[in-house]
Amino acid sequence: MSVATLEQRAVSPAAEEAGRIVVKDVNRIFRQEAGPDVIALDQVNLEIEPGKFYSLLGPSGCGKSTLLRNIAGLDHVTSGEITLDGEVIDGPHFLRGLVFQQPTLFPWKTIEQNVATGLEARGILKEKGHEVQEYIRLVGLEGFEKVYPHQVSGGMAQRASLARALVNHPKVLLMDEPLGALDAFTRMQMQEEILRIWQDRGTTIVFVTHDIDEAVYLSDKIVIMTPRPGKIQEVIDVPIGRPRNRNHPDFWRIRSHILKIFGFSPEHAESYQI
Ligand SMILES: Nc1ncnc2c1ncn2[C@@H]1O[C@H](COP(=O)(O)OP(=O)(O)OP(=O)(O)O)[C@@H](O)[C@H]1O
Ligand SMILES: [Mg+2]
Repeated sequence: MSVATLEQRAVSPAAEEAGRIVVKDVNRIFRQEAGPDVIALDQVNLEIEPGKFYSLLGPSGCGKSTLLRNIAGLDHVTSGEITLDGEVIDGPHFLRGLVFQQPTLFPWKTIEQNVATGLEARGILKEKGHEVQEYIRLVGLEGFEKVYPHQVSGGMAQRASLARALVNHPKVLLMDEPLGALDAFTRMQMQEEILRIWQDRGTTIVFVTHDIDEAVYLSDKIVIMTPRPGKIQEVIDVPIGRPRNRNHPDFWRIRSHILKIFGFSPEHAESYQI
């Protein structure tokens, strides 16, 4: 499929009908040999609507990565269940694409070979290999196909990780602080890229962040989590049109509401990282 076709798909409301995640009565307890058990997720219930952009926001240790890893199938719930389009998640699958804070590219493979990894593993590289180039172009890495990860910047490596997940046409894109290691400028550029790709593809996104502004800028819904035990405190709707203006009164209103949840005074908070 060409990039032009991808863009056409984006304007079609039926682009992606699937990608509904349901988290039902989920508990995840880490038993420790020394010390008390850690309740990383305590009775978590959440319905993630298809094609929407969700952020998981909360302080360190509130269970964001644990929830994401369980949706990814990389960890197993202690009780409860998580389904994707009605099917119980019990292991990793290419339909749930993953992007982590540090790009996890293979250092001995070129950018192109890295992006092709999933197709190769699934034995469909011959048939679908032409899409590797299309996704490299989609994330703006044209011209860098033959270089190795150590020869590109952190932002470019992160784009390659994104292309590697997207080439599999995932129903869901799971991102754990994907922009956390980037400088402020690259981070804002990448926010735009992710929004553009999301609008093209219609994929459900679950995006973990500590950054309140980032969550308000990107998300349809913000899931506020609180630690010890890890719980969902509130799901906040962000009914602001796109492209968003970070200085719009509605943006400030939602940001202030979130700051108050975490006990900060909006007038005096110098940083919007939690
Ligand atoms: N494999 C593990 N063994 C024991 N405890 C764990 C394990 N993984 C996570 N935990 C504990 O579960 C809780 C939630 O951890 P998690 O990594 O999900 O938090 P987080 O919200 O992603 O934090 P951060 O923002 O720092 O990345 C923490 O108290 C953590 O110490
Ligand atoms: Mg984490």
